[in-house]
Amino acid sequence: MAKKILVTGGTGYIGSHTVVELQNSGYEVVVVDNLSNSSADVLDNIEKISGIKPAFEQFDLADKAKTDNFFARTPGIEAIIHFAASKAVGESVQKPLMYYRNNLVSLMNLMDCQVKYGVANIVFSSSCTVYGQPDVLPVTEKTPRKDAESPYGNTKRVNEDILSDSIAAHPEITGIALRYFNPIGAHPTAIIGELPLGVPQNLVPFITQTAAGLRDELMVFGDDYDTIDGSAVRDYINVVDLAKAHVVAIARLLEGKNKKNYEIFNLGTGNGLSVLEVVNGFEKATGVKLNYKIVGRRAGDIEKIWADTTFANEELGWKAEKELEETLLSAWLWEKKLRGIK
Ligand code: UD1
Repeated sequence: MAKKILVTGGTGYIGSHTVVELQNSGYEVVVVDNLSNSSADVLDNIEKISGIKPAFEQFDLADKAKTDNFFARTPGIEAIIHFAASKAVGESVQKPLMYYRNNLVSLMNLMDCQVKYGVANIVFSSSCTVYGQPDVLPVTEKTPRKDAESPYGNTKRVNEDILSDSIAAHPEITGIALRYFNPIGAHPTAIIGELPLGVPQNLVPFITQTAAGLRDELMVFGDDYDTIDGSAVRDYINVVDLAKAHVVAIARLLEGKNKKNYEIFNLGTGNGLSVLEVVNGFEKATGVKLNYKIVGRRAGDIEKIWADTTFANEELGWKAEKELEETLLSAWLWEKKLRGIK
C-alpha cells in the first residue's frame, strides 16, 4: 500500500512541486492548506501532471482544535512535510505577531499531534536566512546561525529550535530541516509555478513580469557589493530539484537511514550568482531583452551567500541537476502561460 504523506502548504510554490514528485514516486499525498496565498485550482493542475488529484482539506494549522480533529479523522499518516507558513520578509516586519502566530503555532500544533497520534516523521522547510551574512563562504550545515534580520527569518530559526528540542524530548520522532537557498523556476510543463500576489519581492518573478510587460523595469538593488560585478550574490536552485530533495528526505526517514533523530541539510547548487549574472542568463535563455536599472541597496539584504552542498550530496544522496538557463526558461514559459503570451 502506498505510504501516506501529509503535505502542509501543498498548494503553494514549493509545496505543489513536491506533491507532484511524491506522487511520481508512488506516495499517497494529503494536502492541508488555508489557501491564504494560493488557490485550490493548483490541485487540478497537479492532477494534470501526475494524473492524481491529492486529497485536500482547507483549514489553518494554527487552529489547534481543527488540526487535532484532522489527525483524529485521518489515520495512517506516516510523515509530514511542513511548508505552510507566511514568507514575506517585509510584511513580517509590519505584522510580527501574525508571523509568529502562523509560523510557530502551526508547527507546535503539528508536533503535538505527532506525539498524540504517533506520526513519527517530519520534514521542515527552513531557509539559508538562518545564516545571515556568514563570515566564511560557502556555508556548511555547521556554519553558526546568526540573529535574524526579520521576524520571518526569526520564525525559521525558532522553528528549527522547536524541532530539535521536541525531538530531543520525544525520541520516537525523527525530523529533517531543509535549509533552502533561493528556489526559482517552474515545472517544465508550465502547469504549476510561482504565483506571487501583487508586486513580486523576489528577483525571478520580478524579472519574468518585467519581460511580460507587467513592470516597466527591474531595479537591481546595489552595484557596490564586494562581488564579481558589484551586485549581490545568491545560490539559485531549481524548484523541481528542490522538490526531489524532499522525496529523498522522506525516504531517508521512512527507511530509518537517518544518522540522528534530527538532521539538517543545505539545499542549494553550490554556485553563487550575481543579480546581473541572473539577468544576463535570462536574456540568453529566452532571447528577451530586459529593461533594468541599477538602484541603491535594499534594506536588510546580505551581500553574498552560497551553499556548501557536500553534506547533502554525500549523506542525503541528492544533487541539484538543472542548469541556470533551463531553470530561467522554465520560469519564463510559466509566466507566458499565465499571461497568455505566445
Ligand atoms: C529573500 C529573503 C529570505 C527569504 C527569501 C524567500 C530578504 C533579505 N531575504 O531572499 O529571507 O527566505 O526571500 O523567498 O528579503 N533583487 C533585485 N531586484 C528585485 C528583487 C531582488 O535586485 O526586484 C536582488 C536582491 O537584492 C537579492 C537578489 O536579487 O540580492 C535575490 O533577492 P530575492 O529573490 O528577494 O531573495 P533573497 O533576498 O535572497
